Order: sequence, then structure tokens, then C-alpha cells
Amino acid sequence: FVPQSSGGGDGGVIAKDALGTNIQKKAYLDSHNGGSRELVQGLRGDATYLIVTEDKSDIEYYALNAVCTHLGCVVPWNKAENKFMCPCHGSQYAPTGAVVRGPAPLPLALERVEEDEAGNVVLKSWKEEDFRTGGEPWWKF
Ligand code: FES
Repeated sequence: FVPQSSGGGDGGVIAKDALGTNIQKKAYLDSHNGGSRELVQGLRGDATYLIVTEDKSDIEYYALNAVCTHLGCVVPWNKAENKFMCPCHGSQYAPTGAVVRGPAPLPLALERVEEDEAGNVVLKSWKEEDFRTGGEPWWKF
């Protein structure tokens, strides 16, 4: 028996908005600007950033888990500064989630973004190389 809703399995989870509604890719793109980074519910129920490409044609193939790798605060996106800036102890992350200022020791965790047959945005475990560090993912979900 494998629980369906725990997240992190190979099937992934459908991204949901704050009301728990499934996020549909087309509707999401129609209602968001290029470069937008907004929180949805992703793997493990964690706050996760969906990213719209700069040309607004697609949702990026990676999403960013918003949990700060220092002590776990949710990190807000600061559009004016073009960075994620943690309010707790000042860590800063690039638009890709790479660390630009500590004390955060590690980049924001990645989740893979796909679309199911019904047009829902699906988030899956990222097990491939971390393209920001060139190394193995540090996370296990
Ligand atoms: Fe983000 Fe400490 S929890 S900098």
C-alpha cells in the first residue's frame, strides 16, 4: 500500500493554490506576468515557488522549495531586488535559488515541474544534478 497524498513519490503532486485548488497551467500563464515567482503548495505540502519564464511562454521546468536552508523560514521573493531575501537572518538567494549571501549553507531545493493530461501543473522529486552547483541534490524529497 502506497499512500497517494504524501507527496514525493514518482507520481508527484498536483500544485495547489492557497485555497487548495489544483493549478492549471494555461490559466496560470494567462494570469501571471513573465518572471513571476509565486508560492503554491508543492511536495510535502511545502510552500514552493512556481516560476513563469521571462517571455511568459511557459512555466519553468524547475520550481523552488521556499524553505530557507538555514533554519527553515519561508523565504519571500523580492522583485525589486531580484532576489529571494530571508527575513529571519538575512540570507539571500538568486532567482534560481542559488545562495548569494549566507548564513544559508545550501541553495533552495528544486522540484521538477510537469503537466498532466488534464492540464494540471505537477511537481515531482528532483533527483538529477543540481544545475546551480553541478553536484548531487542535497535534499531527499
Ligand atoms: Fe533564513 Fe536563517 S532561516 S537566514
